[in-house]
Amino acid sequence: MKTATALTARTAHAASTGTPRLTELTAAIRTELRPTRTEASDGPVAARVAAVLASFLHHPDLLTPAQLEPDPHAYRQHLLHVEPDGSFSMVALVWLPGQATRIHDHTAWCVVGTYLGAEEETAFRLAEQDGRTVLEPVATTVFPTGAVAHLTPPGDIHLVRNATSGKAVSLHVYGADVSVRGSSIRRVYDLPIHPGAGEEGRA
Ligand SMILES: [Fe+2]
Repeated sequence: MKTATALTARTAHAASTGTPRLTELTAAIRTELRPTRTEASDGPVAARVAAVLASFLHHPDLLTPAQLEPDPHAYRQHLLHVEPDGSFSMVALVWLPGQATRIHDHTAWCVVGTYLGAEEETAFRLAEQDGRTVLEPVATTVFPTGAVAHLTPPGDIHLVRNATSGKAVSLHVYGADVSVRGSSIRRVYDLPIHPGAGEEGRA
């Protein structure tokens, strides 16, 4: 199994220097997670966290200047928060033009909100082609500033790239302790990409 280092993100560990607004956000997420012990699926949890995250994306004082710093070599991950009980973590990803993740999926639910610029996500599914396993693109979606989305494994294979010619920043909340393995990435997929039946939608 590939580890987080198989992705090209550089991680900056600066969790102790969060803004008061970030503290507000983590407290609000903590409140939304309390009922999860009685819930059978991750979908409602991720949807509630997405609503909370969306309500904070317009705040210009959410991140410090250091947490908005890019890396010229690869998209950069700033670790913002790890809940002491490991129930959730939050990172900021900073993208320069042309920077992208590899194709991957996650071990836990994930909520993404665009804070600056726009990101493009392409979803894939596994398929069989001439006796080999390939990836088929399913849909490509552009998320402008303020947009949120949530993913719940399994079936969350995707790639994310900066959709702009400037810097983009997104906030990611994971239902996992990302400090254990550096991320909540389950697997990186180095498989051929086959167009299949074509993408179902583009927004
Ligand atoms: Fe992801």
